[in-house]
Amino acid sequence: MAVEETEYVQVASLPELEDEGRTVVSSDGQPIALFHHEGEVYAVDNRCPHMGFPLTRGTVEDGILTCHWHHARFELEEGDTFDLFADDVQTFPTDVREGEVYLDPDPEPDVPPATRRRNRLADGLQENISLVMAKSVIGLDEEGEGFYTPLETAVNFGTRYRAMGWGRGLTTLGCMANLHEHVGGRDKRRAMFMGVREVADDSAGEPPRFQQYAFDNRDLSKSRLKSWFRNTCEVRDA
Ligand code: FES
Repeated sequence: MAVEETEYVQVASLPELEDEGRTVVSSDGQPIALFHHEGEVYAVDNRCPHMGFPLTRGTVEDGILTCHWHHARFELEEGDTFDLFADDVQTFPTDVREGEVYLDPDPEPDVPPATRRRNRLADGLQENISLVMAKSVIGLDEEGEGFYTPLETAVNFGTRYRAMGWGRGLTTLGCMANLHEHVGGRDKRRAMFMGVREVADDSAGEPPRFQQYAFDNRDLSKSRLKSWFRNTCEVRDA
């Protein structure tokens, strides 16, 4: 694929990166981690999408980047997470020219930000992960969808998946929705988060079991997939 010269910026020397194995560079104030792994250069946002730990302090092994705070794992090339409590990490296309590493610091997102937030809210409800739901509610508010999208998503989830029908989660959500216009500032987000979280908690542990998404990386070798499968069986992730 042709590389747009103007989109890429020079960020590091390849020989130095090969020696160090990793480094942090900055583009417009954004810290980006560079890794040299198995002869290739990879670039990811240096802030772990879970709680912001620097990913250059993590481990890279067998194509997997592991954060050393809560051990979230990411497929290094496309940034997809193995662990739903963390989000996917942002990756950046890289290129090597005459011994210098270049990257595109502003790649086109795969999906619009609001769609990504909606998808993550659904993930949070399905897996009952409070932090994911909180970040999604805040993100949707920033995208101008602060009331209707979380409310609609949680109502649909609770009425569809709670085995015993209407329960305390949906009642709490209704109360929070009624409160929403009477509270100000960040309390609006808190109210909506409380309602969504109660719906998830009230349906947790009930069927169905939700499937995880497939990874975006379609170039993974069979031997690598076998190795990952063996590893996830051994740590009981499968
Ligand atoms: S901050 Fe990286 S896993 Fe929690």
